[in-house]
Amino acid sequence: MKTFSHIAQEVPLNGIREFGLLASQIPDCIRLEIGEPDFPTPGHIVDAAFQAIRDGFTGYTPTSGLPSLRALCADRVTRVTGVPTDPGQINVTPGGTAGLVLALISLLDPGDEVLVPDPGWPNYPMAVKLANGVTVRYPLDAANGFLPDVAALAERVTPRTKVLVVNTPSNPTGAVFPAATTDALAAFASRHDLFVLADEVYDEMLFDGEHHGFFARDPDRTVVVYSLSKSYAMTGWRVGYTAAPPALADLMGRVQEPLVACVSAFVQKAAEAALTGPQDSVREMRDSYRGRRDMVVALLREHNLYRYTPRGAFFALVDAGAAGPDAREFALRLLSEAHVSTVPGVAFGDAARDQIRLSMAAPQDRLREGVRRIARLLRT
Ligand SMILES: Cc1ncc(COP(=O)(O)O)c(C=O)c1O
Repeated sequence: MKTFSHIAQEVPLNGIREFGLLASQIPDCIRLEIGEPDFPTPGHIVDAAFQAIRDGFTGYTPTSGLPSLRALCADRVTRVTGVPTDPGQINVTPGGTAGLVLALISLLDPGDEVLVPDPGWPNYPMAVKLANGVTVRYPLDAANGFLPDVAALAERVTPRTKVLVVNTPSNPTGAVFPAATTDALAAFASRHDLFVLADEVYDEMLFDGEHHGFFARDPDRTVVVYSLSKSYAMTGWRVGYTAAPPALADLMGRVQEPLVACVSAFVQKAAEAALTGPQDSVREMRDSYRGRRDMVVALLREHNLYRYTPRGAFFALVDAGAAGPDAREFALRLLSEAHVSTVPGVAFGDAARDQIRLSMAAPQDRLREGVRRIARLLRT
């Protein structure tokens, strides 16, 4: 028999999903592995989806999204970035996940290199492989606040380097780029003629300071991935969008057709309700995550595990080096002996091999107990 696709077989496994699956088999497990809001989707968004189904939004839409939704997304991009953005530059995608894949497939030829953060979200190397590219990791050093270092990036540039992937606020570190970092990275990309693939799905999940996104820096070479998943507690609805230069946006739309055709029509109507409706729930959820962040930081201090303060997203890396150099072993023990699920740092790259990632999108009592058990197991 002939073999399956080598490319597909080389797509790395996703370590977050792996630990999610293991945790789901332990009924009383404290689930700190999953990066998912624990709030329900706000009621007016749910109502809009039901209404849309009743109103007949049950068929295909144009590939890149309903014109009305693309216009709303373009308005938001214009508002938050200050860059006048046309609806034609928007692709409505099944989550930021798909936006990332569409961008990479549209940008890469076989063997093109993509600079990917280490530690970084596992889907980056998976998507690069799917798009026939080659992942080249660049370090996010804890000593540098987990911010990219331009000199380290420059060392990794070759004639094949085509795309720089950046993520702020960051999963898994919770780092948020100051303006100077965004400026320096945009200038670096321009100097080396790279496209910037900016993952800004956590742009509303900011606890301190401001979001400094990439579109405003260089809209001609930048694709930004946005999502409604985190801001509106809509992870399961699968809706996000991208903003890109017009020609690239067209190409991404062409690529989206054979992949998914379009996002569900009534989900798009719900997304319209999310973007146009009251934004209080976004603020309330963010305030709640900030409270949990503060609590986790205080608990880590108490247990002598504090290293840094995450400024956005809802994740914290915790040093598990006391249990040995490979925190995967520790995460497995934590799961089987203490019934706490986390994600070992290696799921995000080699740089975080001795860390585990906690999601702070869990109820406070679970977080408190989870951190207590982590600290206890680290001491034994
Ligand atoms: C850094 C980052 N980017 C993108 C996504 C994609 O989210 P979604 O596909 O739900 O929009 C996630 C989800 O966890 C993420 O953590």
